[in-house]
Amino acid sequence: MLVCDALIVAVGSRAKVEALPEAGAAARLDIGGRVLLPGFVDSHTHLIHAASRAEEYGLKIAGASYEEIAHKGGGILNSVKKLRAASSETLKQRARTALREFAAHGTTTIEAKSGYGLDVENELRILTLHQELRAEQPLDIISTFLGAHVVPPEYRNKPDGAERYVALLVEKLLPEVAGQKLAEFCDVFCDRGAFSREQSRRILEAGKQHGLAPRLHAEQLSRTGATQLAVELGATSCDHLEQVSKADIRALGESSTVATLLPGCDFHLGLKKYAPARALIEAGAVVALATDYNPGTSPTLNMPMVLSLACTQLRMTPAETIAAATINAAYSLHRDKQIGSLETGKFADLAVFEVEDYREIPYYFGVNKCWMTLKGGVVIPTSTESGASSGSSWPHGNPL
Ligand code: NIG
Ligand code: FE
Repeated sequence: MLVCDALIVAVGSRAKVEALPEAGAAARLDIGGRVLLPGFVDSHTHLIHAASRAEEYGLKIAGASYEEIAHKGGGILNSVKKLRAASSETLKQRARTALREFAAHGTTTIEAKSGYGLDVENELRILTLHQELRAEQPLDIISTFLGAHVVPPEYRNKPDGAERYVALLVEKLLPEVAGQKLAEFCDVFCDRGAFSREQSRRILEAGKQHGLAPRLHAEQLSRTGATQLAVELGATSCDHLEQVSKADIRALGESSTVATLLPGCDFHLGLKKYAPARALIEAGAVVALATDYNPGTSPTLNMPMVLSLACTQLRMTPAETIAAATINAAYSLHRDKQIGSLETGKFADLAVFEVEDYREIPYYFGVNKCWMTLKGGVVIPTSTESGASSGSSWPHGNPL
């Protein structure tokens, strides 16, 4: 591969690439027969949150459901309380550590959602932190506004509370987010205990009017018809899908809305029912995989582990999982022309794995085989400040 000014300018056999006139003066980076992939595109993360919810883990293991924990004051509102109390510097520091770990596992672009602020000040604060983090480190962060995560405490159990919050989103927050160009996408958690299909429609249509492309958390806990709404609105992505019906699968198969599957959630929550990946693929749906990095349902940023889960639980082939975590995810983020595959003209966003065969990436589950990650042809330093690293032998990266 020949890289120039952050872009891939040639890919092919060594003889072909070395014969190119520009190749002569290029610096060399020998990856020693390891496997080179496009960097992972993690198209569903909740990057900014203040803390883990490890205090809920025991309850989960003892059998309490996600919704039971939420009813007891845990769940998303627990994270909202913690975020509102946290300083921006604390939030940023936690996100910085996460971004280094994303890169250490081969991820070069992430989508990041707001959604733990749920008031004007804190939702805008989260999206502004994305902006600041984008400027100071190499990973791409693509922002999604998820003001409609759940109804916030101030509006709960009040007459017309949910409706008044939807009005705040539509009339105040969305215009503000769009006006300040703080997000490219608008997402809604359309589910039991969150927002109805009708409320989701109003929020996403308002988002569209402001130029924010729709995405949806759909059919995770219950079937609400969110998938059909996503298809109808031309959403870029429809995520989770554990509870989809046959008709939903057909609708996704006939649409260009990406079915983004998040098996880390079901694994973490100890659920047996995973999304029907094979049926979706057979129906012709574009399937993507993402970590859903968040403190409540999927506290991982390890994409290779998600590939392992997709192989064993979703019955996807290793090759399908790699396409799902790269080019298909990039497509759902309107970035398929720039990233997600090793093609001329695309950014040299690359991940190198210490394996002999690409199938060993999911095969060695729970082990990080990522050896080097490059963004625009430049090696990302991923060892943490303490000097610890999750890889075995870390390269001392020289920029290409
Ligand atoms: O993608 N389902 C809604 N949102 C997250 C969970 C957020 C949380 O529990 O903090 C998800 O699973
Ligand atoms: Fe999510």
